[in-house]
Amino acid sequence: MNIGIPVERKQGEGRISLTPSAVADLIVAGGDVFVESTAGLKSGYSDEQYSRAGASVVDNQATLYNSSQLIVKVKEPLLEELHYLTSKHAVFCYLHLAANAHLKKAFCDIGNTAIAFELVESEVGFPLLAPMSDIAGKVAIQLGMDYLMSVKGGMGILLEGGYGTPRANVVVLGGGVAGFSAAKRAASIGANVTVFDIKTSALTRANSLGVNVTGLYSQSQVVEEYVKNADLVIGAVLVPGKSAPVVLPEFLINQMKPGSVVIDIAIDQGGCVEGIKPTTYANPCYVKSGVQMLAVPNLPGAVPKTATQSLSGAILPYVRSIVECHGRSGDIDVVAIQKLKGLMGAVCIKNGQFE
Ligand SMILES: NC(=O)c1ccc[n+]([C@@H]2O[C@H](COP(=O)([O-])OP(=O)(O)OC[C@H]3O[C@@H](n4cnc5c(N)ncnc54)[C@H](O)[C@@H]3O)[C@@H](O)[C@H]2O)c1
Repeated sequence: MNIGIPVERKQGEGRISLTPSAVADLIVAGGDVFVESTAGLKSGYSDEQYSRAGASVVDNQATLYNSSQLIVKVKEPLLEELHYLTSKHAVFCYLHLAANAHLKKAFCDIGNTAIAFELVESEVGFPLLAPMSDIAGKVAIQLGMDYLMSVKGGMGILLEGGYGTPRANVVVLGGGVAGFSAAKRAASIGANVTVFDIKTSALTRANSLGVNVTGLYSQSQVVEEYVKNADLVIGAVLVPGKSAPVVLPEFLINQMKPGSVVIDIAIDQGGCVEGIKPTTYANPCYVKSGVQMLAVPNLPGAVPKTATQSLSGAILPYVRSIVECHGRSGDIDVVAIQKLKGLMGAVCIKNGQFE
């Protein structure tokens, strides 16, 4: 089984899917690993480290894709990467196909296999989504603090306030992994935090963060009341495998405070803020009715040294089990992959067929 690890080309992306030590483990498991030159640099890993781990470092995408059957990357292939894919390939990465009909069709036309990190399941949830959701929640608060400053177009406040001034109101929509980590960070800084979810367990977990955090059931009139008064809103809802439901309707944006900030982490699933448009780190924010709107779909890409280690550690057992179930065979056996623990529901496209 030949594994290819390409350079991530999405704007603002510095992650690589696997660290050199993870690559060394895959080679012991029977894989041959090809890494595109410079792919690890922003995460702090040189080509030489990958060579020492036993990988073949190749200097272009065409060689990488020609040499590999299993492509393990971070984000979904971009348009310009699609023409390197053939029916012999399986791609294992974040895909979010529910919000990307174009990519789904492209895979079906090519006839390849596509396995989504975010749909790999374990007893405790989605183990390959959770590490990046945790980081995205933290980054969202960092960005929110930045964009609340007047020099960034914000209303000019600190989350924790100052001597004799009020604390900021932070509303988090969805108290799962990303929402919880955002709430935890905002609360630890000193903001008043309200977390909306439909699950009691998420609300009690939010409440346990401290006296400045309140978990509330997500009901439209209550959401409306709190959003109108919010300084920073974080969108983090998820219905696995589906487009994100709208929790913050468009009319409500008009009623928010001027200079307030909305960050929709769930933009990779289409966004839970109605009408929000994806942005990039090159231009993260646009203004709508006086509100700063941010929707970067690869938030952890800007902290690659942290994010790559976290991601690589989480995906390694699954990549290793794919390698091991293939033995010496070079051809992708999708039926065998679907039988592996946690991977059944993650195979979105099987040899060009949507599952
Ligand atoms: N932008 C990025 O860089 C980035 C990075 C990582 C994850 N994400 C995305 O963040 C989103 C959240 O991921 P997660 O891992 O936290 O998911 P999660 O499943 O842990 O949490 C989602 C929460 O949303 C809640 N929910 C569902 N419907 C709701 C509704 N109508 N109102 C309120 N809450 C509702 C669920 O009960 C759950 O608690 C996903 O779309 C994920 O892909 C984005």
